[in-house]
Amino acid sequence: MAINILAIGGSTRPGSSSEQALRVAGRGAEGAGAKVTYITGRDLMFPIYDTETPDRSDNAKKFLEAVAAADGLIISTPGYHGGMSGMIKNALDYIEDLREGPRVYLDGMAVGCISVAYGWQATATTLLQIRVVAHALRAWPTPLGATINASITKFSADGTTDDEGARSNLETVGRQVEQFATWSRK
Ligand SMILES: Cc1cc2nc3c(=O)[nH]c(=O)nc-3n(C[C@H](O)[C@H](O)[C@H](O)COP(=O)(O)O)c2cc1C
Repeated sequence: MAINILAIGGSTRPGSSSEQALRVAGRGAEGAGAKVTYITGRDLMFPIYDTETPDRSDNAKKFLEAVAAADGLIISTPGYHGGMSGMIKNALDYIEDLREGPRVYLDGMAVGCISVAYGWQATATTLLQIRVVAHALRAWPTPLGATINASITKFSADGTTDDEGARSNLETVGRQVEQFATWSRK
């Protein structure tokens, strides 16, 4: 059975560069044989994670079901003020609801991490933050993370880029998630 990878990310802007980067990584995983499902952009715009009620929006429930069913995860966030966007962090906060699930949080899961910002400094600090959060959720960030400087790397409407280095890094992140998930399934 194919490895099931959930790819989440993007900004509130339809067709954002962080969403395009996610899709390049997703294609890398598909090329390695994985089945990739996407939850992107405004579909990740959940109410602030609320510890005082078990009520969750339909979109948040779908997100949690998809996370619980996934063998691996790819996360792509824009760099906002040196860290991941509030929308992506809030979505990741919802994984708290999986604390008592069959798999605690993201225990043992491979996570590919992608940061997209308009300067190198924020790409680096944001990538580190995704990795730290993935560790806190008991996941295994893949050896390669991708940093995309959107002032240099441009994506066309069809989601491709002429930046061969960026494309190769993103596809490698996707492939590494597939590879690790395959190993950990054995
Ligand atoms: C609220 C906000 C804060 C941002 N902060 C930074 C920053 O600290 N450093 C940086 O390089 N880019 C910063 N940016 C630019 C984004 O990282 C950049 O637009 C990137 O391409 C991701 O946006 P997109 O996925 O919507 O295309 C910021 C953008 C916004 C909207």
